[in-house]
Amino acid sequence: MSASCFLALETSCDETAAAVCTEDGRILSSCIASQIEVHRATGGVVPEVASRNHILHVRLLAEQALKEAGVNLSDIRAFAATSGPGLVSSLLIGTSMAKALAVAGNKPFLAVNHMEGHLLSPFMGDHGPVRPCMALIVSGGHTMIVHVRSIADYKLIGRTRDDAAGEAFDKIGKMLGLPYPGGPEIDKKAREGDPTAIRFPRTMMADKNFEFSFSGLKTSVLYELPKLDFTQPNTLADVCASVQEAIVDVLVEKLIAAAKKYKEQLVTVSGGVSCNRRLRERLTERCEKERLDLLLARPDHSTDNAAMIAFAAAQRFRLGESSPLEQDVDPNMPLAAVE
Ligand code: KG4
Ligand code: ZN
Repeated sequence: MSASCFLALETSCDETAAAVCTEDGRILSSCIASQIEVHRATGGVVPEVASRNHILHVRLLAEQALKEAGVNLSDIRAFAATSGPGLVSSLLIGTSMAKALAVAGNKPFLAVNHMEGHLLSPFMGDHGPVRPCMALIVSGGHTMIVHVRSIADYKLIGRTRDDAAGEAFDKIGKMLGLPYPGGPEIDKKAREGDPTAIRFPRTMMADKNFEFSFSGLKTSVLYELPKLDFTQPNTLADVCASVQEAIVDVLVEKLIAAAKKYKEQLVTVSGGVSCNRRLRERLTERCEKERLDLLLARPDHSTDNAAMIAFAAAQRFRLGESSPLEQDVDPNMPLAAVE
């Protein structure tokens, strides 16, 4: 294979990941070293611990990604890394490594926006090419609705004013004594619970904008907890199902309303929270009812991974883009202008 692949590194938060894709965005390998067990002890990510772990794993993962893809360093056309948003000390590890490989091989470097990786991830696999859509990105750090007109032409329609949806899941999970991260745990427990057991607030759902707010939900769970009898077998599952329903309701209704307002036929959802079973179920039902097309990121492309970074890099490279080696990491790197 002649120089026709991209190697991408993702170290923006607590997953060290490396992936190889072809110039047309076909994923050849995607390797991840999760730090979830390390951070479970502290109930959340400690930035210095995360960056030290990235250093331990990033070189081996890059080698593994090349090996699993069946390519050599000389087959790599350009090196990419997530350069923001994220934790500075974590971003620096993947970005420095990708830049070093680019310099050593005299190849281009691409600084990729982590949110663009999430944004385009529903189109990976056989779902391309990237098409205009109304996109919901729901992760641990972000909740936003983005109007995608084409690659690199994005408008931010709305976002959370406080906590991200994943952050709300994780903080409420912690309050309920569930292991970190709370999102998947609440999803699991909710399966045996009654989503109508407790009516938690759907903040801003009736507002005619596309903004979100989840910090009030956390407070209302806090006030509700002392009133509940956790010796009853179903209480925990009912709280989980009710919390999840409140979050899912707002996400689904705002996304559908945005698609209708901007007359987009295609709706996409990505980011870690898009793994949520109830969210996937409700979106499928609502999109069918509204006759909208729905593209959900595959669960292994939803939580942080480097395949989505390689895919985004390939799309940008096709537009003739690359990044200067002087380009710094940016913990608040913006994805798009506000509409
Ligand atoms: O996209 P991601 O891996 O990392 C960020 O960029 O933030 O998202 C992680 C978030 C965490 O908050 C986690 O609790 C949430 O995604 N998450 C879920 C589920 N799986 C992951 N939330 C609800 N239900 C799930 N099944
Ligand atoms: Zn992410």
